[in-house]
Amino acid sequence: GTAGLDLRAEIERLRKERNAVILAHYYQKPELQDLADFVGDSLDLSRKAAETDAEVIAFCGVRFMAETAKILSPDKIVVLPDMNAGCSLEDSCPPEQFAAFRAQHPDHIALTYINCSVEVKALSDIIVTSSSAERILAQIPPEQKIIFGPDRNLGGYLTRVTEREMLLWPGVCIVHEAFSETELLKLKAQHPGAPIAAHPECPPHILDHADYVGSTRGILEFAQSFPGDTLIVATEPHIIHQMEKALPGKTFIGAPGADGNCNCNICPYMALNDMEKLYLALRDLNPRIEIEEDMRLKAKKSLDRMLEMAS
Ligand code: 13P
Ligand code: SF4
Repeated sequence: GTAGLDLRAEIERLRKERNAVILAHYYQKPELQDLADFVGDSLDLSRKAAETDAEVIAFCGVRFMAETAKILSPDKIVVLPDMNAGCSLEDSCPPEQFAAFRAQHPDHIALTYINCSVEVKALSDIIVTSSSAERILAQIPPEQKIIFGPDRNLGGYLTRVTEREMLLWPGVCIVHEAFSETELLKLKAQHPGAPIAAHPECPPHILDHADYVGSTRGILEFAQSFPGDTLIVATEPHIIHQMEKALPGKTFIGAPGADGNCNCNICPYMALNDMEKLYLALRDLNPRIEIEEDMRLKAKKSLDRMLEMAS
């Protein structure tokens, strides 16, 4: 067992011994964010994974993020503390159904959100993240028809800001779907003048109230620059940890769900990772991400296009 172990010290020791880099997403528990070598949004984490000299990548995030790291860095060992750390967007888009959708629209290209399986990436032409989608979309000729999946909220948001019609796959993120417009308006009334920063995975009735819409990194940048002292944050609330560290004098409030607080907006998949599982993953080099080479190369094509077009 691990009872009595100083997990932090053990993780430090193993990180050196294994020549490992620890990458973490902003939705991870504060203790995991604090000991990571790098904390970022999906795009920055992909870039870091592609660049690293480490032999082992310990990925504190969800499975599609760790798979992306493995696709881009196949010679590294990539471990994910809990292999059950999935994503509701990935679950909403089974590869066979996505292949059928593509086949129904042979004159469309598939622009696909990175929150999906390796198989769906392999069936796609270009991957996007929320921080790169607008820039990538702007490079696609206007006459080119597009299907966009799996997040219909991000797809709908992109259509509203770019006036580009796309055929949308009907997936959603259960975390961002759970924000309550009624509770958000109540909160806003209690904090008049506090801006709202929201992730584009939020449904339109939440985005309609947002002063800023962007990726997790974008929301953090907005938090560094907004005038005033209180910000309402409509995304997974663990990101507030970084805001409180950077701006201790300001107040950050997680947007509420139907029960009036932000706890129901914790991502249940991200929450599966913890210090003990990270320690065990570094110790045992397991659970490990493995991807069949043919599939990896197909998925890499669409990810490489993202990295080229996003830069
Ligand atoms: P970002 O790319 O904005 O970090 O989003 C990742 C994610 O899973 C949002 O729910
Ligand atoms: Fe997936 Fe939503 Fe969790 Fe992000 S917050 S990993 S989109 S379920």
